[in-house]
Amino acid sequence: MTNKYAFIGGGNMGQAIISGLVSAKRTDVSNIIVADPSQEVRNHCAKNLGIQTCPSNQDAILDADVVIFAVKPQHMHSVISELKFKKGSTYLFISIAAGIRLDHLERLLGKNQAIVRCMPNTPALVHSGISVLVATEETSAAQRLQAETLLQSVGKTIWIEDEALMDAVTAVSGSGPAYFFLLIELIQKAGIRLGLPSELAETLAVETAVGAAKLAQQSPDTASELRQKVTSPQGTTDAALNIFSNSGLEDIVNLAITAARDRSIALSKEN
Ligand SMILES: NC(=O)c1ccc[n+]([C@@H]2O[C@H](COP(=O)([O-])OP(=O)(O)OC[C@H]3O[C@@H](n4cnc5c(N)ncnc54)[C@H](OP(=O)(O)O)[C@@H]3O)[C@@H](O)[C@H]2O)c1
Repeated sequence: MTNKYAFIGGGNMGQAIISGLVSAKRTDVSNIIVADPSQEVRNHCAKNLGIQTCPSNQDAILDADVVIFAVKPQHMHSVISELKFKKGSTYLFISIAAGIRLDHLERLLGKNQAIVRCMPNTPALVHSGISVLVATEETSAAQRLQAETLLQSVGKTIWIEDEALMDAVTAVSGSGPAYFFLLIELIQKAGIRLGLPSELAETLAVETAVGAAKLAQQSPDTASELRQKVTSPQGTTDAALNIFSNSGLEDIVNLAITAARDRSIALSKEN
């Protein structure tokens, strides 16, 4: 059976996933529709992604069997409450809204539904994301595969069984890209302070981050082993790493990621 996808919300994440789905040729563009209140977003999606668009969420779900909620968490309640789903139809619901738990989604969508909660991240925009997924018991193996295939069009996927881990996942990979952007920014600034032209400092910082990430991804060595291999005693890298370590970088990172995890817990109680 050909799946019909309805995206509710065509912002950054919605568009990233649709673009992945379209460029991976996982389905024909005629099987995808996005609903968004913004005319600008709809025009962009129609022109650049070639998909159908509409302003009404209800119209978007008319023929759909896979409904992806890609609106801000604070809009999820009103968006879902206003939708009327066909009785007797089987749907797969996928939510990427941060902090909206499965039991909350079940209260909004009804019990015994196939629901996948997913935490993607912004590298999805360049199809290099990582998405962590958790599903209700009612989600069949085939529906899990459907959700996984959809998210794999923008990067890797990992299933978890314990939803409680989602707050830590949010802190590590959901918010994670920003930590690396900060580091790139700070390395670039330090290079400029040492006299490098701004453009050169930026290129060096970005390309070094890309190369280091690829090496960490492809090498059988752990990140710790890779670091030790490039650090000769008394050498230049050693001089820099000693400053990081003596300044308590590990504690700072622990504090920061714990704060993100705690904020994720608090936000899920608010929504
Ligand atoms: N960005 C990330 O790094 C990231 C990572 C993981 C998960 N997420 C989750 O992904 C979701 C979307 O985030 P985003 O960054 O893509 O946000 P976004 O760019 O603001 O996209 C949300 C889109 O939904 C539209 N919208 C607002 N109200 C709507 C309604 N009633 N019906 C249909 N569409 C509506 C918005 O239109 P207007 O702009 O006109 O309001 C906007 O185009 C969020 O729940 C977020 O938690 C994001």
